[in-house]
Amino acid sequence: MHPSPARATLILSSAMAALLLQLLFLVLTSPSVSAISNQAPEPYVVYMGGIPEGGDQEALQASHLQMLSAVIPSDEEARVSLTQSYHHAFKGFSAMLTETEAASLSGYDGVVSVFRDRILRLHTTRSWDFLEAESGIGSERLHDRASNDVIIGIIDTGIWPESPSFSDAGMGKIPSRWKGTCMEGSDFKKSDCNRKLIGARYYTSQAEPIRPATNGSHTIRVDGFGSARDSVGHGTHTASTAAGTAVQSASYYGLARGVAKGGSPSSRLAIYKACSLGGCASSTVLKAIDDAIDDGVDVISISIGMSSAFQTDFLSDPIAIGAFHANQRGVMVVCSGGNDGPDPYTVVNSAPWILTVAASSIDRTFQSQIVLGNGSIMKGFAISFSNLSSSESFPLVFGRDVAAESTPVSEASNCYPGSFDADKTSGKIIVCVGTDPTVTRRVKKLVAQGAGAKGLILIDEDEKGVPFDSGSFPFSEVGNDVGAQILEYMNSTKKPSAVILPAEDAKEFKPAPVVAYFSARGPGGLTEAILKPDVMAPGVSIVAASIPSSDIGDVPAGKKPSSFAIKSGTSMACPHVAGAAAFIKSSHPRWSPSMIRSALVTTATMTNNLGKPLTSNSGANASFHDMGAGEISPLRALSPGLVFETTTEDYLRFLCYYGYKEQVIRSVITGTNFSCPPDPTQDLISNINYPSISVAKLEGKQTVVKVSRTVTNVGPANSTYTAAVDAPSGIVVKVSPERLAFTKRWMRASYEVSFDAKDASRGYCYGSITWSDGAHTVRNGFAVNAM
Ligand SMILES: *[C@@H]1O[C@H](CO)[C@@H](O)[C@H](O)[C@H]1NC(C)=O
Ligand SMILES: *[C@@H]1O[C@H](CO)[C@@H](O)[C@H](O)[C@H]1NC(C)=O
Ligand SMILES: *[C@@H]1O[C@H](CO)[C@@H](O)[C@H](O)[C@H]1NC(C)=O
Ligand SMILES: *[C@@H]1O[C@H](CO)[C@@H](O)[C@H](O)[C@H]1NC(C)=O
Ligand SMILES: *[C@@H]1O[C@H](CO)[C@@H](O)[C@H](O)[C@H]1NC(C)=O
Ligand SMILES: *[C@@H]1O[C@H](CO)[C@@H](O)[C@H](O)[C@H]1NC(C)=O
Ligand SMILES: *[C@@H]1O[C@H](CO)[C@@H](O)[C@H](O)[C@H]1NC(C)=O
Repeated sequence: MHPSPARATLILSSAMAALLLQLLFLVLTSPSVSAISNQAPEPYVVYMGGIPEGGDQEALQASHLQMLSAVIPSDEEARVSLTQSYHHAFKGFSAMLTETEAASLSGYDGVVSVFRDRILRLHTTRSWDFLEAESGIGSERLHDRASNDVIIGIIDTGIWPESPSFSDAGMGKIPSRWKGTCMEGSDFKKSDCNRKLIGARYYTSQAEPIRPATNGSHTIRVDGFGSARDSVGHGTHTASTAAGTAVQSASYYGLARGVAKGGSPSSRLAIYKACSLGGCASSTVLKAIDDAIDDGVDVISISIGMSSAFQTDFLSDPIAIGAFHANQRGVMVVCSGGNDGPDPYTVVNSAPWILTVAASSIDRTFQSQIVLGNGSIMKGFAISFSNLSSSESFPLVFGRDVAAESTPVSEASNCYPGSFDADKTSGKIIVCVGTDPTVTRRVKKLVAQGAGAKGLILIDEDEKGVPFDSGSFPFSEVGNDVGAQILEYMNSTKKPSAVILPAEDAKEFKPAPVVAYFSARGPGGLTEAILKPDVMAPGVSIVAASIPSSDIGDVPAGKKPSSFAIKSGTSMACPHVAGAAAFIKSSHPRWSPSMIRSALVTTATMTNNLGKPLTSNSGANASFHDMGAGEISPLRALSPGLVFETTTEDYLRFLCYYGYKEQVIRSVITGTNFSCPPDPTQDLISNINYPSISVAKLEGKQTVVKVSRTVTNVGPANSTYTAAVDAPSGIVVKVSPERLAFTKRWMRASYEVSFDAKDASRGYCYGSITWSDGAHTVRNGFAVNAM
C-alpha cells in the first residue's frame, strides 16, 4: 500500500530518515544553520500569507528582492531575482536558493513557509488509457435558462481553441467584472479567444525574471514555445468537460458517437496554462491561482496534484495555499483526488477548503469480442480498431509457453519486455496476465507487437473496467473468470486458436457507476478527521475535445486524427464537478463555495443503475472513503433544502487544531484579529462545520464523542426536518434535537451527534444521518474509527 507520510518516514532507513528530518528542519524551522559548502541553488517557493485587497505590488516586489539580497551572497547577485511573484490574493515569490538561504528566509518575519518548487503531476491514469463519455448533465431546459455569467478557470496544459467545443455561438456579452486577458503567444492570437473562451494565460517555468530595478538591462528569457496552446491534450479535455459547447456527432474514430458537451455549457472558460507533459511547477500553479482569483473566475478546476507518497503539510502545499485564498474571496476550488488507488490513505488535495473528487465509471464502455476456435464468444474490454474479422483465426499461445530462453516464467506471463521468443509468437495471439503492476498495458502491447504477434489478450481483474486504447493493434482485456475459461479452452485442445474483433460501444452497461480502480481513497494522510474524498463523478471512458493527435502511431490506419479523445482519471472527474458547481452557481449566484459543496455532497446518490448500493470495481460495497458522499447529482443539488456553511473562521480554527501556531495563522489571513480557541487538539477537527463527519479516534468503552453541526435553510421558509439515523452495528448514534423547525429562509439551526462505540469492532465503520422535510433529503454521512 502507499503509506501515509508519517508511515513513509518510518519505513525509510534510519540514515535516510535522519537526512529527511534534517531537511525538514532546515527548510521549515531553523533560521541559523551553519553554511554547507557547494550547495547548488534550486527553485523554492516562499509563501508569505494573505494580503489586503489593493496592495502596492511594486513595493511588495521590492521588499521581496530586498529579502533575497540579504540572504544571497553578493558574488551571486544574478540570483537576486523572482521567478514568480504573488501579489493579488496572497503574497510571496519563487526564486533560486540554496538550502541554507531557504532556511534563513524561513526565519524571516511574515514568512509562513518556504518549500521546494516541486513538480506536480497530471491526474490522468497511469497508463494513458482512453475511454468514452456521457458528460452532459441536467436537462436542456434548465441549461437554456442558465445565465452566462459563471466563469470557470482551468489550470492545466492549455487549450486547443479551434475545437468546436469552444464555439461561442449564442453566448452573450462577457461579464464586465472580467479582468483577465488573452495572451498572445506562438501559434496563439488574441482572436483565438471568444465569448466562450474569454481568457488564456501561459507561464513558462522560468518566466521573465523580475530583477532589481537598479539593473537597467533587464534580460528577457523568451521561451519560443510560450503560448496557451495545448500540446498535450489534457487541458483541452478537462476544459471541454467542464464547460464545452454541445457538439453533435462527436466520436473517437467512430466509437462513442453522440453529443459531446460540458457539465455547464452556458459557462465561460478562462485558461491558465501552468503545465506541460512533464507536469506543473508548484510555483507556476500558485501563480496561476493568484491570477485566476484576480481575473474574476468563480470556480477553479485543478486536475493535478502531488504524489500521495510525498504529501506536505497544508501550508507548504501550493494547491492548498492557493485554494485557501481563493475560497476566502468566494472562488470555489475543485480538485482531483489522484489516481493512486485503490489503497487507503492515497487521496491528495484533501484540505477542507477544497472540493476533492473521486472517479467512477459510467454506463457506457467499450468491448472487444474474442472468438475462440471452438466457437465460444467472450466479451473483453478494449478500445481497439483491429481490422481482423470473425472469418479469420490465429494460433493462441500463453505467454509463459513462448518465453525466450532463460526468461523467468513469471516475466513471460506478464509480457515483460524481452521475455518472448519471437519465433514462437510471430503471427499468433498471445495471452498474458497482469500480476506485475510495473509492466503497464501500453508496454505489454508494445512487447506483443514487437514480438510479431497478431494480437494480445490480457487477463487482469483490476484494470479491466478501464478499457485500454491499443490503436490498430488487436487487444482485449478480461477478468479472472473469463480468463480461466480461455485458459481452460487452451488446455482442452492441441491447436487452440482465436481472433480479436474491433471494439464496439456497450451502452446502458450495468452496474454503473462503479468506483474506478485507480481512484485515490481516503482517509486523508494529513488528517483523518475530515472525510475525504468529498464526492465522485465520471472519470472512466470520458469523451471530450482534445488536440488532433500528432502521434501517427495512435491514429488507426486510413483515418484522420480525431479531435476528440477518450481519457480516464480523476483528472476527468474533477471538471465534471467544476461544471456542476458552475451550474449551481448560475442558479444561485449568492451561494458561497461551501454552500455549493454542501449541496453536491448531501444530495449525492449512493445507488447504481441496478438500484443497489454503489460498489468498487472489486464488487465490494463502496465506502465513503472510496466514493465520498457518492456520485454527484447536479439537478438535485439545485435544491438541497439545507446546507452546511463552512466559514473562513472554521478553516482558521482547523489550522489551529491541526497544530499551526496562532502567529502563523494570523499571517495567513491579514487584517483580522483571529485567536485560536483554547486547548486546540486534532480531535476537535471533527467539529468543523463540514457536510460530512469523520471521527478519527473513537476509543471503546470510556468515551462518547460528540460532534456538532449547523445547517442553513435554503429551501421553503416554513419547513420542519426530522432526522433518520443509519448506524453501523456496534455503534450507538444519537442526534439531538431530532427535529429542526425553520420559519425563514437563511435561518440556521444546530444539532449534536453523539457516537458511542460500545460493541464496535475495530476500524472504520460508516453510516449517515438523513434530514428530511418530505421534499428534500439532506444526507450527513459519517466515518467513525473505533479503536
Ligand atoms: C544586469 O544583470 C544581468 C544578468 O545578471 C547582467 O548580465 C547585466 O550586466 C546587468 N546589467 C547591469 C547594468 O548591471
Ligand atoms: C490490417 O492491419 C495490418 C497492420 O495493422 C496490415 O498489415 C494488414 O494488411 C491489414 N489487413 C487488412 C485486411 O486490411
Ligand atoms: C492446464 O493444464 C496444466 C497442465 O495440465 C495445468 O497445470 C493447469 O492448471 C491447466 N489450466 C487450466 C486453466 O485448466
Ligand atoms: C469452448 O471451450 C470452453 C473451455 O473449455 C468451454 O467452456 C466452452 O463451452 C466451449 N465452447 C463450445 C461452443 O464448445
Ligand atoms: C452491501 O450492501 C447491501 C445493502 O446495504 C447489503 O445487503 C449487502 O450485504 C452488502 N454487501 C456486502 C458484501 O457487505
Ligand atoms: C482584537 O481582539 C481583542 C480581544 O478579543 C479586542 O479587544 C480588540 O478590540 C480586537 N481588535 C481589533 C482590531 O479587532
Ligand atoms: C410560516 O408560518 C408562519 C406561522 O405558522 C406564518 O405566519 C407565515 O406566514 C408562514 N410563512 C410562509 C412563507 O408560508
